[in-house]
Amino acid sequence: MSTRLEEAQSSALRGDRTPQWSELSAWVQAPGAGRQGGAYRHYDLRQAFTQNPQRFDQFSLQAPGVFADLSKNLWDEPVRARLLAMAQACGVLQQRDAMFAGAVANPTEGRAVLHTALRAPRGQGPHAEEVHAVLDRMLAYAHSMRDVESSGIRDVVNIGIGGSDLGPQMVVAALDAQVHPQLRFHFVSNVDGHDLAPVLRQLDPQRTLFIVASKTFTTQETLANAHAAKAWFLAQGGTDIARHFVGVTTNLEAAAAFGITTTFGFWDWVGGRYSLWGAIGLPIAIALGEDGFRALLQGAHAMDQHFQQAEPQANLPLQLGLLDVWYRNFLGFSSRSVAPYHQGLRRFPAYLQQLEMESNGKSVDVQGQALPYATSPVVWGEPGTNGQHAYFQMLHQGTDVIPVEFIAVKTPTHGWPDLHRKLLANCLAQSQALMLGKRAEEAALERPPTASAAMVPQVLAQHRTFAGNRPSTTFVLQALNPYTLGALVAMYEHRVFTSAAVWGINAFDQWGVELGKALCNQLLPRMDSGDTSGLDASTAGLLAMLR
Ligand code: F6P
Repeated sequence: MSTRLEEAQSSALRGDRTPQWSELSAWVQAPGAGRQGGAYRHYDLRQAFTQNPQRFDQFSLQAPGVFADLSKNLWDEPVRARLLAMAQACGVLQQRDAMFAGAVANPTEGRAVLHTALRAPRGQGPHAEEVHAVLDRMLAYAHSMRDVESSGIRDVVNIGIGGSDLGPQMVVAALDAQVHPQLRFHFVSNVDGHDLAPVLRQLDPQRTLFIVASKTFTTQETLANAHAAKAWFLAQGGTDIARHFVGVTTNLEAAAAFGITTTFGFWDWVGGRYSLWGAIGLPIAIALGEDGFRALLQGAHAMDQHFQQAEPQANLPLQLGLLDVWYRNFLGFSSRSVAPYHQGLRRFPAYLQQLEMESNGKSVDVQGQALPYATSPVVWGEPGTNGQHAYFQMLHQGTDVIPVEFIAVKTPTHGWPDLHRKLLANCLAQSQALMLGKRAEEAALERPPTASAAMVPQVLAQHRTFAGNRPSTTFVLQALNPYTLGALVAMYEHRVFTSAAVWGINAFDQWGVELGKALCNQLLPRMDSGDTSGLDASTAGLLAMLR
């Protein structure tokens, strides 16, 4: 298997070594162009729409469950064609096929990358038998917990962090309307006891199920919280730990050593941040039930097939990943803001932060060579319309151009159509405002009631000018349900894969998290002893203050 990926990688060029990279660089550095990205940085979107009435159709893509309007981005057909040609020169599609087939796509850990196998239908894809054996067992267990009369369970507490927290937490929040009405879900991740304490305060030990979720079962935060929860459970007179604590892990021995007898396993070929599709999804399965969980997998699988089969011209994750490269490496945009116009998706930006930044926050290529170009953008955001009343000012008038990603859901699950109309109108208005901007001449014609009468009109107009041409993408889901959410998340996964393949980096390791963990282990005993010998003065001073 590994040979296929090695072949794919050896026949591939790193993005910057392709002719298209040089060509695109020349385009953005053309004489007369601006500091950061030349002509395309100042690409006139208003004009582009006027000149080309087909622009919306040409730059819109329909993938399973997700429609994407890419037309309000700072690109045109020649740029898109060069990016697609670059993907070909980089062997992105061959690397994709090798990953799906089980090649070692994570070479520094010698692992295959097969989260896609977790959502393949029964009998299909690598490891199908073991995947479906765990899935069936997990869904049967979830079903038994959902029978609240016989299980006695009312509260489910997931203890995990990173990929063992963000995915299930995000999905359960997003699909709130479909969550079992008699069950409450809690997610404890931080080693800060202020995370655990308010959750425990609400619980009856005999009616609580603790899920200890950790791929490695060695993570400091999760083990510390699990031990604290267990101590609380016993102190409250809880009995039958085996029934009230279950484990989700690849490390079955460590879970057993903790005293957990019911475990759901997964495999080293599932990365933590790609793991919600398997046993890490246990809270989701309990929340939604078998049909809901299977629909989530189906949506993701449909997006997998789209990514594998759609022509590059129609391939949504591929084009999104290439747009990321265009913005990061050619136009110099260092961040991307995600604004889901659905309150249920409030944890989606946090989920994407791990998916994107832990995957692509790398500065060497797969050969270990230092990269001469930028990789992962900063990904951040808040649900709309809240963000509008906080940081959108900077998106509209700040000195940085930040591509924004809007997620709109056509049909709500609540019964207030008027609220929903307002929400969607706001979403549309923001992408429109970012694009259109407002010229000083236009601003000068207005007399805003809150403006100072003492202000010179031309000066005021400068304050009220919007540059416009600020790029955005709008995704539209017909409804937010398990299928469309599964598709949306898988779309982001493959987008991250695409940009990583162009950048020539390993998107599936995360060595950058290790140093802090090791230093924490060294500092921990010093918190007790107060020994600051050998520490730098800042760390020593702070440690003395904090212990
Ligand atoms: O520290 C980063 C990380 O390793 C993530 O990649 C992972 O999702 C998280 O910690 C939790 O790890 P585990 O599931 O092994 O507890």
